[in-house]
Amino acid sequence: MEKSIVLKDCVREFNLKNEKIIAIDHASLKIQSGKMYVIMGHSGSGKSTLIQILGLLDNLNSGEIYINEQKVSDCSEDEKAEIRMKEIGFVFQSFYLNPKLTAIENVMLPMYINKNILKNERQDKALMLLKKFGLENRINHYPKELSGGEQQRIAIARALANDPNFILADEPTGNLDVVNEEIVYKTLKELSNSGKAVVVVSHNESIKKYADKVFYMESGKLREEL
Ligand SMILES: Nc1ncnc2c1ncn2[C@@H]1O[C@H](COP(=O)(O)OP(=O)(O)O)[C@@H](O)[C@H]1O
Ligand SMILES: [Mg+2]
Repeated sequence: MEKSIVLKDCVREFNLKNEKIIAIDHASLKIQSGKMYVIMGHSGSGKSTLIQILGLLDNLNSGEIYINEQKVSDCSEDEKAEIRMKEIGFVFQSFYLNPKLTAIENVMLPMYINKNILKNERQDKALMLLKKFGLENRINHYPKELSGGEQQRIAIARALANDPNFILADEPTGNLDVVNEEIVYKTLKELSNSGKAVVVVSHNESIKKYADKVFYMESGKLREEL
């Protein structure tokens, strides 16, 4: 079965004391396996909110979300957490590695809540992922001993720990130099080439050459660049 996330006419509002912010304004979108989607837009346009909605970290005011054709917008928080664990890998601008854990321990962390990965498989699997990203010489290093680019590749390895079908990256190169930025974009592109659906939020035009589809967000409205 083809893997997909579908948003139908989604709205997310924030009600502040004196104003109502429409962070996502009737957005519809389909994310499919094997493609890299880039979402561009100015600061405050709703990109992070969209990533949170796609990753079931936030709820809608109205609209529907389907993951692999299952309607998930009505699921309980527990059901959503289970779907999130199996289906979604997140990558963030500031990496969010645990500073007290080594590279390999960071990558193993999401496996502890996954019943499908046996205890004795965790380490081999984490090692395989770190090797895949050229980090075999960094497995026992702590985040503070690593460059930003290395930290982000570890975070990408961690995002893959539970074999998700979807990778959601929110400004993954925001803290990186140009060289590492290209490395991270290429890494994400390889993941989409290998069959994952990859969504990358960025306000850097240079990512567009890797995209299969480019979207722009403006005041919560999403439009595809054709
Ligand atoms: N938890 C929140 N409470 C109130 N307003 C929020 C919240 N999260 C985001 N917003 C507002 O929603 C809009 C979109 O934010 P965001 O999705 O973070 O934009 P971007 O990632 O494109 O910079 C902004 O106006 C922001 O201030
Ligand atoms: Mg943001």
